[in-house]
Amino acid sequence: MPLTTIWELMHNIAVIVGSLRAGSINRKFAHALEKLGTDKFAFNHVRVDDLPLYNEDLWETPPESVLRLKADIERADAVLLITPEYNRAPTPIIINALAWASRPKGRNSWAGKPASVIGTSGGGIGTAVAQSQLRSVAVIMGMVVMGQPEVYFQTKPDLIDAEHTVTDEKTRTFLASYLGKFDAWINRVGPGPAPKA
Ligand code: FNR
Repeated sequence: MPLTTIWELMHNIAVIVGSLRAGSINRKFAHALEKLGTDKFAFNHVRVDDLPLYNEDLWETPPESVLRLKADIERADAVLLITPEYNRAPTPIIINALAWASRPKGRNSWAGKPASVIGTSGGGIGTAVAQSQLRSVAVIMGMVVMGQPEVYFQTKPDLIDAEHTVTDEKTRTFLASYLGKFDAWINRVGPGPAPKA
């Protein structure tokens, strides 16, 4: 089988959710997307809750959690950033993770990774402002960010059930289409550079 065909079979996605809450609607959304995309993606839900707040001094003896984060990003084919919106901005949780894996200087783990930004809130704006800012940051960090389609997802009660199934057919079709386009984006832009030693 040609390499390109193997590459297009299944993608490993590093999924970062910018919420630490047990009842996070964004984590629930992540699991719903995972369920909808099982034919295309293997999701790795990257742990960010044990990262310290960014402190340049800690690179002297890098925390295990930071090294694990960088390894998780580097082994992924692509990155899915799922952010809640806090005060019309991405959460500090996701920004902190982005900062850690972008360093040390010259060892940016995000560089060249195909990426998509998405998120959900209960409000009608559906994280639009937070996503817009996060897209800019992701581009600056060297990710190859999918611009379209944008998904500003308003969570409504019971739209995602306890098994992470999207209960409304139209919404399910819409999200499946988004995932199909992300898959096509990854195929188009490729896996990014090999991690630096
Ligand atoms: C919010 N929330 C919120 N929602 C929104 O749509 N736009 C906003 O600017 C904000 N601002 C904001 C600030 C802070 C500090 C908090 C804690 C919350 C509400 C937010 O969308 C809601 O709490 C979500 O449930 C957060 O996502 P998770 O944690 O459920 O994934």
